[in-house]
Amino acid sequence: MVPRHPRDECGLSESMVSLQGIHKYYGDLEPRLHVLKGINLEVGKGEFLSITGTSGSGKSTLLNLLGCLDIPTEGSYFLGGRDVSKQTDNELSRIRNEDIGFIFQSFQLIPQLTVLENVQVPLLYGEHSISEKEDYCRGILDSVGLSHRLTHQPSQLSGGECQRVAIARSLVNDPLLLLADEPTGNLDSKTGDEVLELMDELHGQGRAIIMITHDLEVARRSERQVKIKDGLIMEERK
Ligand SMILES: Nc1ncnc2c1ncn2[C@@H]1O[C@H](COP(=O)(O)OP(=O)(O)OP(=O)(O)O)[C@@H](O)[C@H]1O
Ligand SMILES: [Mg+2]
Repeated sequence: MVPRHPRDECGLSESMVSLQGIHKYYGDLEPRLHVLKGINLEVGKGEFLSITGTSGSGKSTLLNLLGCLDIPTEGSYFLGGRDVSKQTDNELSRIRNEDIGFIFQSFQLIPQLTVLENVQVPLLYGEHSISEKEDYCRGILDSVGLSHRLTHQPSQLSGGECQRVAIARSLVNDPLLLLADEPTGNLDSKTGDEVLELMDELHGQGRAIIMITHDLEVARRSERQVKIKDGLIMEERK
């Protein structure tokens, strides 16, 4: 099974992600909660960006917008040169499934499925045969060092192994962009470090990564750091 290479297909502009004047309010009744207050952010192809900020500053809110899991109250979002607000619901689900890989603090694996089955979930509706999908996913699991855990269930794995399964699943559709929300938040520092090394490798392969973290040490592992403060993005100096 040959992975797609959307980076080559869709004639992307230099920016992978372009956010312009993004505001996000929660609630319908006044006073509404104004969380994002005019975010402008450009993330290039293959860039590894971290976003820090205090608890409640809007990091997950921003990541949900980037992942097309929510929509901004105001402002525009271009992903791979396409205006996200102009996509149909079907196209948005396709983008979430194929163009974006999600990695969460809590792994979000399906407990009843084996490691190999969990990684195959994003391919459920693809046209390839079961054995092609299995071979392809075995290869991805091998690349994250888990070929010895294919038939285990998540409850039989360590936290670091669970996160590597989640990373393997996020890679299945060869996404344009990887979004990680506190990927090391549930891990001890050594295991967290192994996960960060894996993210470094993915960055080395030219993948764009946006990683949310409240941990400045973790943020320093990225190529570029920004911080959300008072609903706005502040560029951090290295
Ligand atoms: N669905 C929602 N409805 C209403 N308010 C929300 C919703 N999601 C988040 N908020 C509020 O928006 C603010 C920002 O939340 P968000 O989860 O984005 O913060 P965060 O920076 O990710 O925090 P943490 O570091 O604790 O994960 C908080 O005040 C939160 O209570
Ligand atoms: Mg959060």
